[in-house]
Formats: sequence, C-alpha cells, structure tokens
Amino acid sequence: MQTVREFSALDYALAVFVGNDERIAFVPTMGALHAGHIALVDRAKELADRVVVSIFVNPTQFNDPADLKRYPRQEGSDAAKLEEAGCDLLWLPRAEDLYPEGFATTVSVSGLSERWEGEHRPGHFDGVATVVAKLFNAVVPNVALFGEKDFQQLAVIRRMALDLGLCSNIVGVPTVREDDGLALSSRNAFLSDLERASAVALPRALGSARAQILEGSPVAQALSEARQSLVQAGFSGVDYFALVNAMTLEPLDAPAGEMRLIAAAVIGSTRLIDNMPV
Ligand code: PAJ
Repeated sequence: MQTVREFSALDYALAVFVGNDERIAFVPTMGALHAGHIALVDRAKELADRVVVSIFVNPTQFNDPADLKRYPRQEGSDAAKLEEAGCDLLWLPRAEDLYPEGFATTVSVSGLSERWEGEHRPGHFDGVATVVAKLFNAVVPNVALFGEKDFQQLAVIRRMALDLGLCSNIVGVPTVREDDGLALSSRNAFLSDLERASAVALPRALGSARAQILEGSPVAQALSEARQSLVQAGFSGVDYFALVNAMTLEPLDAPAGEMRLIAAAVIGSTRLIDNMPV
C-alpha cells in the first residue's frame, strides 16, 4: 500500500491507475478504523481494480469543538489495518491543503440536510458535503462507498454527487454490528462498561419497533414504546426515533413504500445513532 499526503503525490499515484485503465473505488473515512470501515474496503475491492481510502478528521463537520478534540486519532494502526485489508492507496490530506487560508465556499444540500441529524447538529452536513465534494474532486473515483450506518449522510452524499455531477456511482454498505447488535462506531470507545451494556437497547428498540410496525401496530405507539425503552435502559435523552421514507427521509405516521427506522440517543456523554430497514 502506498501512502500519500500532498495533492501532487495523490495525482501522481492516481495517474498510474488511470493509465493502466484501472477502475478506482474510493472510501472516505475519519480514521479510528474498525470492521465497519473494513467492510467498505472489502466491498470496494469487489467493485473496482484499485481501492483508495482517505483519512481526514474533518473539522468543519464537528458542531461541537469538544467532540472534535476527543475524536480518536490513530494513523499508525489505521494504516496497518488498511494494508491488511488490501487497500492500494492511503491518502492523508493535510487540513491546510483542503482548507486554504480564507476558505469561503460551502456545499449545502437543502431539504435532506435539514431534518434529524441536521436539526441536532447544525452545520454538520454542510461540512460533510463540502469535504466529500473536495475529496471526490481530487480522487475522481468510478465508485465511492459509504456505510448505511450513517443513513442520512448516505442520502445527502447521493444527492450532492448527482447534483454536482461528481461521482455517478455511490454504493451503500450495510451496517456492521457487534455480536449483541450494537452498530460499530468509533464513538463506542467512549462508553463505560455499564453504558456499553445499556447501549444495546438502541438496536433492540429499533428491532422491536420494526417487528411491531410489521405486525400492524400503530406507528406512533411503536415509536413511543421504543423511546420509553431507551430511557428505561439508561439513555439520558432521545434526539429522535422515527419511521421515515427511505429516499426522502420525510417522517411517516403509517407504513408506506420503502421505509427506514432511524434513531439518535444520548448515553452518558456519548451520542449514538443507528437505523434499520423496515
Ligand atoms: P467515518 O465516521 O470515519 O465513517 C467512514 C465511513 O464508514 C462512512 O461511510 C460510515 O457510514 C462508514 N461506517 C461507520 N461505521 C460503520 C459500520 N458499523 N458499518 C458500516 N459502515 C460504517 O462518515 C464519516 O467518517 C465522515 O462523515 C466522512 C464521510 C469521511 C466525511 O468526512
């Protein structure tokens, strides 16, 4: 695996792939890699000849400075995991290259960005859309892979890529979970043992709400029971727990079309998000 930092080195490495007529798959990440990220790399290998991964802890998508500060950074072990997974090119962009002095341009996806995560993390999706547009511009991938774990992010990026004509093939990869069902996340490292044990209530609440909705229970009742079960399990707050249209992310009060259950809740000092198809 080759590792590059500067744009010039990235361009050089990519030109070799393109010169050999090789298809490029791209997996953008913020590092602290776990099996969820590696699942994206595995899928990328199936879809293209070369896999490019970026690691960049993007400051503009953190609405909470404390969250940015404590975000885990582990370049050495991340590189080892990627090498083992068969990544061809690791790009570690420098903040000053991605955000030159006086940076003043924002990519903002209206509508999709405004609800749910957007409401609770103002500016978050502008930061995501802007950095991913910049990363796509630099890598020019044939295909780019994102986790369904961040379901709204996937929808925002699909819209942005289509609207700006940046990458016509955005692939979503199913969420990788721990044995007990908790979705893998770099934020799980912040959970105490007790919080970790309680956190499993989140995927369980999603699973039981899904079962109730499929059995024909009223949606409002299924959602309210799910919220209650989270509070009972020790979550201090539920930012949202909703049934939405899987494309538009508009809330549904009765089953219709392709649906998704999405949720965000806080346990201790950690905010967890998860979702499931219905
Ligand atoms: P990060 O949180 O590092 O996630 C990188 C990719 O891994 C995202 O597409 C995310 O959805 C996926 N992912 C995370 N946990 C997963 C899991 N348990 N199963 C499957 N996929 C999982 O998401 C970001 O970084 C950033 O917002 C980024 C897109 C890189 C822009 O800065």
